[in-house]
Amino acid sequence: MRIGLLADIHANQPALEAVLADLPDIDQLVCLGDIVGYNPMPAACVELVRDRADVVVQGNHDRLIERPLRMTGNKMARAGLEYAQSQLSAEQRQWLQTLPRTAHVDGSYLVVHDHPTKQDGYVFPEDVESLSGTIDGYAGVFLGHTHVQDVSRVDGRLVVNPGSVGQPRDGSPTAAYAVLNIETGEVDLRRTHYDVDRVHHEVVVTGLPTETGERLFEGQ
Ligand SMILES: [Fe+2]
Repeated sequence: MRIGLLADIHANQPALEAVLADLPDIDQLVCLGDIVGYNPMPAACVELVRDRADVVVQGNHDRLIERPLRMTGNKMARAGLEYAQSQLSAEQRQWLQTLPRTAHVDGSYLVVHDHPTKQDGYVFPEDVESLSGTIDGYAGVFLGHTHVQDVSRVDGRLVVNPGSVGQPRDGSPTAAYAVLNIETGEVDLRRTHYDVDRVHHEVVVTGLPTETGERLFEGQ
């Protein structure tokens, strides 16, 4: 059984479409949250995820869609959420609000957006030991939030962060995702190019912060 893992799409439709086109044969598609925020195409991304993903958990941006002011100190995040709030239908916003915080795949993998026991907690590659004791009983955990692609092990259990589809911060501007083969435990960390210029242009046209568009080229 092969599982496709997507995270941190952040309203980047061209990146999401590129990943969906690049996906090899899979049995299940799992979205680890942060469908909206930052970039200018939230509605299209919500619809694509609803249409294509079998399992979806809620990210912090999805959760804060009705309360952008809570994104204090992060101008880009706040602007992206205010924009998403103005673009999504009430029904789409409601769908984001009702997404679960955790899910399971194959009865043996935990699915979360961020740290399993610390809300909004980041698990960077150098912090995986902070997961020790939190995923007992599972074969592994799928998580996102850092926008840094990584596969590692803690307590002998698999930890997969597929990286970010729509706003990579691990040095490469290409859209990131992953595919896990459950039988072999093999993880394929994948990247694909997409039309960054198109998204940058939309950021300018919609009046979102210029840093939001520039960041896509930097991959940071
Ligand atoms: Fe995110």
